[in-house]
Amino acid sequence: MSDKAILQYQDKTFEFPVIKGSENELAIDIKTLRAQSGMITIDPGYKNTGSCESAITFLDGEKGILRYRGYSIEDLAEKASFIEVVYLLIFGELPTKVQLEDFQKDIVAESHVDEEMKKILDGFPKSAHPMGVLASLTSALISFNPNSVNVSSDKEMYAAIVRIVAKFPVLVAWTMRKKKGLPLDYGDDSLSYVENIHKMMFKKPSQEYTKNKVIIDALDKLLILHADHEQNCSTSTVRIVGSSHAGLFASLSAGISALWGPLHGGANQAVLEMLEAIEADGGDTKKYMAKAKDKNDPFRLMGFGHRVYKNFDPRAKIIKKAADEVLNNLGIDDPILAIAKGLEKEALEDQYFVDRKLYPNVDFYSGIIYRALGIPTEMFTVMFALGRLPGWIAQWKEMRENNEPIGRPRQVYVGENFRDFIPVENR
Ligand code: ACO
Repeated sequence: MSDKAILQYQDKTFEFPVIKGSENELAIDIKTLRAQSGMITIDPGYKNTGSCESAITFLDGEKGILRYRGYSIEDLAEKASFIEVVYLLIFGELPTKVQLEDFQKDIVAESHVDEEMKKILDGFPKSAHPMGVLASLTSALISFNPNSVNVSSDKEMYAAIVRIVAKFPVLVAWTMRKKKGLPLDYGDDSLSYVENIHKMMFKKPSQEYTKNKVIIDALDKLLILHADHEQNCSTSTVRIVGSSHAGLFASLSAGISALWGPLHGGANQAVLEMLEAIEADGGDTKKYMAKAKDKNDPFRLMGFGHRVYKNFDPRAKIIKKAADEVLNNLGIDDPILAIAKGLEKEALEDQYFVDRKLYPNVDFYSGIIYRALGIPTEMFTVMFALGRLPGWIAQWKEMRENNEPIGRPRQVYVGENFRDFIPVENR
């Protein structure tokens, strides 16, 4: 096979190296395209553009493969804890027992959030969407941790990472507690990372916190499944903001805003609202299938389709099974699950969805589990952000360590040509 690609335009030929990834993925390296030819490429939505070389996550959308640092998502969801996956994604290897204990100790030592932050939270109306609140609080953390990270110092990098991994769950919990009118609480250093998150979110002032293995296992699994997904919209946002050498917290806050949209992480909230609307409308899934296919109707089947997965989303398979298990174990009979399964069955057999390779994505069943765990619908995307945090951090770290250039795409200008300025009185 040739290791270069040849581009012919008019009577000129240009050559470009072809690079091969560790899973044999091929890419034409066009770094010199403009210098050689004066042309650029155009690719709205970056459907064919690789923005970086990355050693964090591999996914094959055709085969439905997802791996973090070489480990399959199926193995990790089954056998690892979320905190092990956090370490794996950020530092590249699964931690030894000692490394894990040290990491957890360091997190506990940093798990307080400045009391002054409560004043900022207090300024938000109760009606504020939790994603907006979370993005703002993450930004506000910068003011309380103003030192920028020297990315060539492992020690400083580690300290910044531990700080955000420790404090982010407090922000998540406070965001939910504010919404529910509960006092803002702290965690318990004796609990595991995920147990602590659960306690911080749900503990009522009048009750002792009791651990529930089914709930903690389900949360662990959901967070692992969301932990990274290579160069998706929010991760690309984190990398591009960080590429200007904006700090870690500022980059993460931008990622949270990107995740909020209903075409990305916001889909989990949209899925549940859609399922509830179908139920309230008498459960007629066929009517909604027809709406999804009608090109004059903006309605889309939320939780279906994916930019990369064109066969199945491996995370959706794991989540569907987990949804069944969690609802069974908690003794919940949720009619929404039956509607979701019916909708999935119809869509998978429908020519429109088959032709366009539209399958349930990670968000299709995740909301059903969150709902069973008592998490309010508006908090679903916040839970996604909590899971995605290690991925964003790992990608930001890799980008800074590789000293990537500032992200700055070009464009093809299609506006007016030069024109003379006309003073306002003559217009
Ligand atoms: N319902 C109905 N039709 C759909 C859907 C859907 N959910 N998704 C895609 N299509 C159709 C489009 O109308 C288009 O049809 P056409 O070729 O006849 O014009 C075709 O399938 C291709 O769709 P695109 O929008 O071009 O695909 P793209 O890769 O740009 O978008 C996306 C992917 C945004 C995920 C899209 O499938 C979608 O909007 N899904 C619903 C929202 C959703 O679930 N988002 C979560 C994604 S996973 C995540 O972020 C964690």
